[in-house]
Amino acid sequence: MARPSGSGPSSGRQRVRTSRIVPTGTIREFGSEEIIVSKTDLKGIIRYTNEVFSRVAGYSREELIGSPHSLIRHPDMPGGVFRYLWQRIESGHEVFALVKNLCKDGAGYWVLAHVTPSFDRAGHIVGYHSNRRRPEHGWISAIEPLYARMRAIESGHQRPAVAAEASLEALGRELADLQTTYDAYIWQLIRHRDNGVRAVTA
Ligand SMILES: Cc1cc2nc3c(=O)[nH]c(=O)nc-3n(C[C@H](O)[C@H](O)[C@H](O)COP(=O)(O)O)c2cc1C
Repeated sequence: MARPSGSGPSSGRQRVRTSRIVPTGTIREFGSEEIIVSKTDLKGIIRYTNEVFSRVAGYSREELIGSPHSLIRHPDMPGGVFRYLWQRIESGHEVFALVKNLCKDGAGYWVLAHVTPSFDRAGHIVGYHSNRRRPEHGWISAIEPLYARMRAIESGHQRPAVAAEASLEALGRELADLQTTYDAYIWQLIRHRDNGVRAVTA
């Protein structure tokens, strides 16, 4: 998909290695009434976060503002999901995604993210905005096997960009067999809440 030049993950977005943080396997919950909010520039550099973001992720606002959003990237997340996210938002669409994030102390937290582009009056994308709610446990257990299969595909590739492309293609094929797309699958999870959601099992 066409990407505006000078923006996006493949065009010089700063990369911060979070490998110093060792995931502990602990999962942190936050309130069902809470919303984690952040806004970024065109390259995913954080420009705004609310208090809930700081509290759950364990970073001060000063640490977050100016950092790339990959600061909270969890190694359990397949790169293909972020590749999909960037393709969608850079072409002006909004995205719903289930994302596991990494806290400063190594805990993880799952979110249902709604990521949208922000436009100026001329219709140009000027940044991105993400609102995140607490997902149901059933949605997480439905998506985890799918993400594990994507990670397995990625582990067979050296270059992150090639790995992400390969797992995204596999995701597309898997969901096409079910006559659905990533967004539609997430919506299916949301609509069915915890009741009898059919996990994608290959
Ligand atoms: C508005 C917005 C919100 C984002 N939220 C997250 C997030 O919560 N967790 C995350 O790991 N990446 C998030 N990303 C994607 C990151 O910018 C990045 O692509 C991802 O962490 C993968 O890192 P990498 O591109 O360095 O591999 C967000 C991007 C945007 C534009």
